[in-house]
Amino acid sequence: MRKRLHKWRLISIFAILALALSGCGEPFLSTLTPAGEVAKKQYDLMILSTVIMVLVIIVVTVIFIYVIARFRRTKKNENSIPRQVEGNHKLEIIWTVIPILLLLVLAVPTVSYTFQLADVSPMKQKDKDGKTKDALVVNVRANLYWWEFEYPDLGIITSQDLFVPTDKKVYFNVKSSDVKHSFWIPAVGGKTDTNPEGENQFWLEFDSKGSEKVQNQFYGKCAELCGPSHAYMDFKVQTLSQDDFNQWTQDMKNLKKPAAVGDLAKEGEEIYNKSCIGCHANTANDARPEKARTAPNLANFGDRTRIAGILEHNEENLRKWLQDPEKVKPGNLMTGKYQKLDDHELDALTAYLMGLKLEQ
Ligand code: CUA
Repeated sequence: MRKRLHKWRLISIFAILALALSGCGEPFLSTLTPAGEVAKKQYDLMILSTVIMVLVIIVVTVIFIYVIARFRRTKKNENSIPRQVEGNHKLEIIWTVIPILLLLVLAVPTVSYTFQLADVSPMKQKDKDGKTKDALVVNVRANLYWWEFEYPDLGIITSQDLFVPTDKKVYFNVKSSDVKHSFWIPAVGGKTDTNPEGENQFWLEFDSKGSEKVQNQFYGKCAELCGPSHAYMDFKVQTLSQDDFNQWTQDMKNLKKPAAVGDLAKEGEEIYNKSCIGCHANTANDARPEKARTAPNLANFGDRTRIAGILEHNEENLRKWLQDPEKVKPGNLMTGKYQKLDDHELDALTAYLMGLKLEQ
């Protein structure tokens, strides 16, 4: 009876595990559904190395089973020992050369891809105004527990939602303003450390076919354990066609001081100006230096896809976040920075923030 119970417990653990792991296969965050040149090359390397490893396992297992069967102790050979072979040159050459060949097959594409994927020379070619000539550059800054995306040549800053054109190389400068984080868009590439002491550079390409499959939205993650809310340090990637991206940059640039619509939102604006504006900007062309930008830019907050990077984007969740951020994201830097809001103030501030949109 006990034994049977034990078995069921094991099966249920495996069932739960399988259910949890099935969540990893979603195309918007799976490395197994690559949606861009970088991800595809990395995927090819994964397949190549897996095929080689499986081949080695099969050959070794077959030899192993053959030897065990062939030289097992039987009644016939009980008192004899098989011939002992030592220092067979032919065999030793074979099992030295084969691994060398396998490693070469693995090393040649790996090294060549490593150099190709690290080629960021286009982002270094500047015109006379200091703008990048022919490449889209995004400065990514990781913070406990949010992301800032700055387009230095366009004069736009946004947070939490990264906007990129499809079928074009996008070049990234990544760094951190506090501890080590890691920038990763599983289906597209990355997983590059963001360090406080220096910038890392790389490029990614988001292909339009892969984007269509995920309704133009990929999930991004922090891939370096950075604190209690590391697992909640998510961002989203919105992919747009080149034309739509141009339109988006125009809209963001034209987005001047947001106008609060309605009395409740106007009240919310007052609260914002009193309690929030010290850290959060509400225009996309935040001119303050980086050190002063200590909280996510809220210019297009109403258009975001998530509250605090993780909760579904609706008013109820925004109230929840404003009321007690610590409950949603332990260890965040907003907790305790402003006076507790009563129900009416929460409604007002929510109305104001939700109205911060590109199209009003
Ligand atoms: Cu930031 Cu983990």
